[in-house]
Amino acid sequence: MHMPGSFSICAAVLYALTLGGYSAHAIQLDIHNEQSIKDAAATATWGMMTYYHGNETGQIPGAFPDKWWEGSALFYALLNYWHFTGDTTYNDELSVGLQWQSGSNGDYLPSNYSHFLGNDDQMFWGLAAMTAAELKFPDVKHGFSWLSLAQGVFNSQKGRWNTTMCGGGLTWQMFPYQGGGYTMKNAISNGGFFQLAARLARYTGDSEYSDWAKKTWDWSCSTPLVNNQTWLVLDSTEGTDGFTAEPRWLLEFWTRCPSDIFELYRADIILFSFRTKTGDQQWYTALDGLLNRTLATFFPEKTGYVMEEILCEPRQICNNNEVLFKGLLSTWFSYIAIIVPSTYDRIMPKLQIAAVAAAASCTGQGNNACGVRWYESKYDGHPGMEQQISVSQVLSANLLPFVQTSKSVAPVTSSTGGDSQSNPDAGLTNPVVKKGPDPISTGDKAGAGILTVVLAVTWAAMMAYAAI
Ligand SMILES: *[C@@H]1O[C@H](CO)[C@@H](O)[C@H](O)[C@H]1NC(C)=O
Ligand SMILES: *[C@@H]1O[C@H](CO)[C@@H](O)[C@H](O)[C@H]1NC(C)=O
Ligand SMILES: *[C@@H]1O[C@H](CO)[C@@H](O)[C@H](O)[C@H]1NC(C)=O
Ligand SMILES: *[C@@H]1O[C@H](CO)[C@@H](O)[C@H](O)[C@H]1NC(C)=O
Ligand SMILES: *[C@@H]1O[C@H](CO)[C@@H](O)[C@H](O)[C@H]1NC(C)=O
Repeated sequence: MHMPGSFSICAAVLYALTLGGYSAHAIQLDIHNEQSIKDAAATATWGMMTYYHGNETGQIPGAFPDKWWEGSALFYALLNYWHFTGDTTYNDELSVGLQWQSGSNGDYLPSNYSHFLGNDDQMFWGLAAMTAAELKFPDVKHGFSWLSLAQGVFNSQKGRWNTTMCGGGLTWQMFPYQGGGYTMKNAISNGGFFQLAARLARYTGDSEYSDWAKKTWDWSCSTPLVNNQTWLVLDSTEGTDGFTAEPRWLLEFWTRCPSDIFELYRADIILFSFRTKTGDQQWYTALDGLLNRTLATFFPEKTGYVMEEILCEPRQICNNNEVLFKGLLSTWFSYIAIIVPSTYDRIMPKLQIAAVAAAASCTGQGNNACGVRWYESKYDGHPGMEQQISVSQVLSANLLPFVQTSKSVAPVTSSTGGDSQSNPDAGLTNPVVKKGPDPISTGDKAGAGILTVVLAVTWAAMMAYAAI
């Protein structure tokens, strides 16, 4: 996942281009009325799809060249939209795009992008495919099954488990030439791998996945990433003196400032995974603790308990990634409430408050464009695809109280009707074809000689590794 600078410059340009004929049409929303929520979700999702061009002539399905991982967030939103509303309008595009980007090896390392991806980028696509399997989104006739794509990502990432530093974990980035991101271990990459393993374990019943989930959790708790007393989740951790097996590097946090350590998704991606472990008191305590933390931190009293990305929203400096996290949290919250019913009464009211505020932000550009800061309860002048994705997700999540009684909405497993084809060896059968890195920009030129050597050596190692 790349952290581009501020979104506000692009947003401002876009805003200037598209402004005109402005009239304030809010998304009308009665949070206690099923049809009203469906209509609002349809409006937000339509707005989201105005940013998607993958089904047009000459375009590539599912491709988001400058922000590849965000495609997975869009498809994740479409899956939930379809699941909770029953509206199949976008299912063809969803199916084609989610399949297209899986790459020739079926592990979401498509060669157009694979040379600059982080473990988290690949993981999000794997989670979207996992969701497709869990929601019984039909497998394609020709291509990879959704379950096997999730397995492909799992197999690929398990091969990158690295005990050289701190006895385990995944680094943020995949390749040495990605610099700092390769020497750092972060919560999203490990939390995501944990979640994927836990969900695969739940779906297939295969203990290989649950062993890896437990191993990743235990490792995370043994580092500063997850504190199993306070339930604080930190962004990342890094050695100070290069790669050593010494544990002392752990004392350094890689954080730009202390308050940068607890962004929305890093806690929730881990939190969501506990839905697979409800029988076990240890897991329940962790779920409870993480939920407490998340609710207290990101649903603050000062906003009237409206969900807020607390670090960037007040200063209006959220980047594209950060705009997406409220949507992802909404989705995961809704599934936690389904899988662990005892959490429903704590989660659902917060999702309702969020949805009402989110819908009120959608008065932009004369066409219901949504803003970033939901707690403003009005359009804040920052439109974008990410904004539409998040609002689509929080609205879909709010259909839970209605659909819960009419049909089974719980994610399925292979023993409760899930029929996505399993392939435990997915992603391992063919070598991954990778291209070279992007042309080196001026800023990266220092040390290019060393970089090239390191690259060549590790390239060979990687290829060998991938082929095992
Ligand atoms: C692409 O999908 C949109 C719906 O999101 C639809 O309105 C449009 O007609 C489709 N375009 C093509 C070329 O199929
Ligand atoms: C990769 O790029 C080529 C050339 O633009 C395109 O034909 C192909 O569909 C792309 N594949 C993916 C997965 O984006
Ligand atoms: C683990 O990290 C070290 C550098 O710390 C690297 O040399 C090695 O190739 C990595 N192993 C794997 C499996 O990625
Ligand atoms: C918390 O994490 C520590 C460090 O890994 C571990 O020793 C301890 O058993 C964990 N406690 C619980 C309750 O899981
Ligand atoms: C979470 O909060 C509830 C209510 O305040 C409290 O009873 C519970 O002990 C907390 N759970 C954990 C694990 O801290």
